[in-house]
Amino acid sequence: MVTYLSGIQPSGRQHYGNYFGALRQHVELSHQEGEHFYFIADYHALTSSPQPDELREWVRETAVTYLALGLDPEHAVLFRHSAVPEVTELTWLLSCVTGMGLLERAHSYKDKLQKGLKPNVGLFVYPILMAADILAYDADVVPVGKDQVQHVEMAQDMAGHFNNLYGEVFHRPEPRLPENESHARIPGLDGEKMSKSYGNHVWVFESGKPLVKAVNRIVTDSRPPEDSKDPDGILLLDFLRLFVPPAEFDDWCERVRAGGEGAPGYGHMKKRLVEVIEDTFAPARARREELLADPAELDRILERGAEKARARATATRDRALSACGLR
Ligand code: TYM
Repeated sequence: MVTYLSGIQPSGRQHYGNYFGALRQHVELSHQEGEHFYFIADYHALTSSPQPDELREWVRETAVTYLALGLDPEHAVLFRHSAVPEVTELTWLLSCVTGMGLLERAHSYKDKLQKGLKPNVGLFVYPILMAADILAYDADVVPVGKDQVQHVEMAQDMAGHFNNLYGEVFHRPEPRLPENESHARIPGLDGEKMSKSYGNHVWVFESGKPLVKAVNRIVTDSRPPEDSKDPDGILLLDFLRLFVPPAEFDDWCERVRAGGEGAPGYGHMKKRLVEVIEDTFAPARARREELLADPAELDRILERGAEKARARATATRDRALSACGLR
């Protein structure tokens, strides 16, 4: 049986990048044969030092987001990362077989430095915690967006180093990108990768005026509608492509390329984008409200998930401790 596992940081509310790159495929896969582990990576979120009350709220919001989008907690194990402290023990064991050079090559760490973020040690060693998350559950497949592929490859390296030293303890995981290639890296409102830490994101359940405001922030240029334009490189079209049917998208592109009197302006595209986003998430938005109204049920789901996840991670931790001579 194939074991799928992935996690999402509750370092804010989930955005379209998280949805198309990860959440959507998690929900789809969770309805297929196999074992499914999905968790709210609250230990990871500490690397950006959130306020405790905010972190508590975002953890619940992330769990509700999974459920509202259709994750079935009877079939998939949904849990909080910190409910399984065994992963921090595994992190130490893996730290001792990981070279500094491997971590220094991490793109995501280097990107954050470049953006001026002041790193703490947690941010630097975070790929080891992520490897522990993956290896603790013997995951075969890790569905993620493009920015996390290198971290999964690092988990492969760490598993390999540990196994070479101590015998076959860890299972080798494989990353899995969304089937639709363009979903692996969703742009933000400024055209850079959409990210909570870059402030260029839109919450998946944004609606009404705040949604209009967000869509109005999508970067455009000052060319008039009647100018013929290459659809490639028009950020608004990249957003439309995510939400409208392919035939409609082709039609927008054709009219933009043709230019002239009937050509759509950026205002038209924005209006359609708001409309189609509202429709896409309306059912999940309604489910989110129902879920938020029953916090006890959410606690029950997370506790049940934690129990199952912890049993699995404990078995792996024990195996690893024995292999390296600590038991
Ligand atoms: P995080 O919380 O940054 O992102 C969660 C998921 O969303 C994907 N994603 C994107 N996909 C496409 N376009 C984007 N703009 C975009 N932004 C984010 C990410 O690739 C990811 O799949 N370290 C992880 C969380 C984690 C994890 C794990 C994942 C912790 N342990 C174990 C898998 C397995 C992270 O920070 O993702």
